[in-house]
Amino acid sequence: MYNKSGTKWQKRFTKMHNIRLPLFITIIALIFVILVLGIDKKKPNSQLRLGLANKKDTSLDPTVKILNGTEVIWQIPDSPRSILFIAHGCNGRAANFWDKSPNCDHCVGLPEERAIVIEALARKFAVVAVSSRGKCWSLMKETFVVERVIKWWVKKQNLESLPLVALGASSGGYFVSMLASKMRFSSIVVMIAEGVFEDIDVTKAYPPTLFVHMPKDKRRKKLIDVNLEVMRREGVDVAEIKCLELPLSPTFLADRVPGLDRRISEELFDMFKEKGFVDEKGYLVNDGRVIPWKEAMSERKLILANKVLVNYIQEELNLAFAYHEMTSLQSEQMFNWFESHL
Ligand SMILES: *[C@@H]1O[C@H](CO)[C@@H](O)[C@H](O)[C@H]1NC(C)=O
Repeated sequence: MYNKSGTKWQKRFTKMHNIRLPLFITIIALIFVILVLGIDKKKPNSQLRLGLANKKDTSLDPTVKILNGTEVIWQIPDSPRSILFIAHGCNGRAANFWDKSPNCDHCVGLPEERAIVIEALARKFAVVAVSSRGKCWSLMKETFVVERVIKWWVKKQNLESLPLVALGASSGGYFVSMLASKMRFSSIVVMIAEGVFEDIDVTKAYPPTLFVHMPKDKRRKKLIDVNLEVMRREGVDVAEIKCLELPLSPTFLADRVPGLDRRISEELFDMFKEKGFVDEKGYLVNDGRVIPWKEAMSERKLILANKVLVNYIQEELNLAFAYHEMTSLQSEQMFNWFESHL
C-alpha cells in the first residue's frame, strides 16, 4: 500500500493537518498518559541527571558536504563506537539536526532533532544525515543513492570496523525500513511510521526493529501492530515504544525550545488557556499544525526574538499533542536499543 514516489506521502502528510480527533480518543490517551507517567516516576533520578551531565559536554559542530548533488551532514565524536544514519521526515532535511553555526549556516537545529544528535554523540555514535532530493524520500531511487553515500562516507572516515544503525521518522521511517532490506544495519528505529514491510521479504536476517510511535494516530498504530506480529513470527527482534501526549505548562516551551524566553513561554501558555487551545489540565485540544496559535500571537502582539522560534514552538506543540512528530523524549530507550544490539 505504499508508493514509490513521494507524492502520496505528501498527500498523507497534508491530510494529517486537517485531522480532528474525537474526544473519546483523547480521553483514552489521557488515561494512558496517567498510567505511563505513574510508571516513569519510579525511574531513579540520579540516572537521568548523569545522562544530562554527559550531554552538557557535547557540542554540535557538523561538517557539510554536497556529494553528487546529495547533501550529507555529519559529526564524529572522539573515539566513536558506532555509526548512526538518520533520515528526516517529509519537508525535513539534514540541516534540521544541527544548530546554525559557522560550519553550517543553513542549519536549523529543531529542538527534537538536535536533542537526538546530542544524545547520539554523548553515547559515542558518529552521526550522518542525508537530505532527500524531494520533499519526501523516494523509496526506490534514493535507497541506491543513500546506500552509496553511506558506504562512501564510512570508508572515507575510516569507520568500516564500526557497527551501523539507522533511525528514520515518518517518510524517513519508511525509507529506513526499506534501506535495511538492502544494506546491513545492526538495528533500526522506525519512528511514527509502520514501515514498508509488506514490500520487503522479511526474514530472520532483517535487523532488530524498534517502532517508536504515537498511538493517538490510530490508523498507523493498527498497521504497526500487524507488522510487529508478522515480523515477530518471522523471527525478527521487534519492540515498540508508545509516545503519549503531554500537558503544556507555563514553562514547557521554555524548557524545550532553545532560546525561548521564560516570560514568552508563560504568556503563550496563558494565551493557549484563554483561547481554549488547551483544556483545563493543559492538554492541547488539537495538533500544533491546526491550532491558529500564530494568528492569536499576532492579535496579542506577542513578538518572538527570532522567527525560527515559530518552527521550534510548532514542533514542541506537535510533540505535546503526540499525533505525528519527531521525538527525542524516548532517546534513552532508543539508544539503549541500539547499544544492546551492536
Ligand atoms: C558520484 O558520481 C560518480 C559519477 O557518476 C560515481 O562514480 C560515484 O560513485 C558517485 N558517488 C557517490 C558516493 O554516490
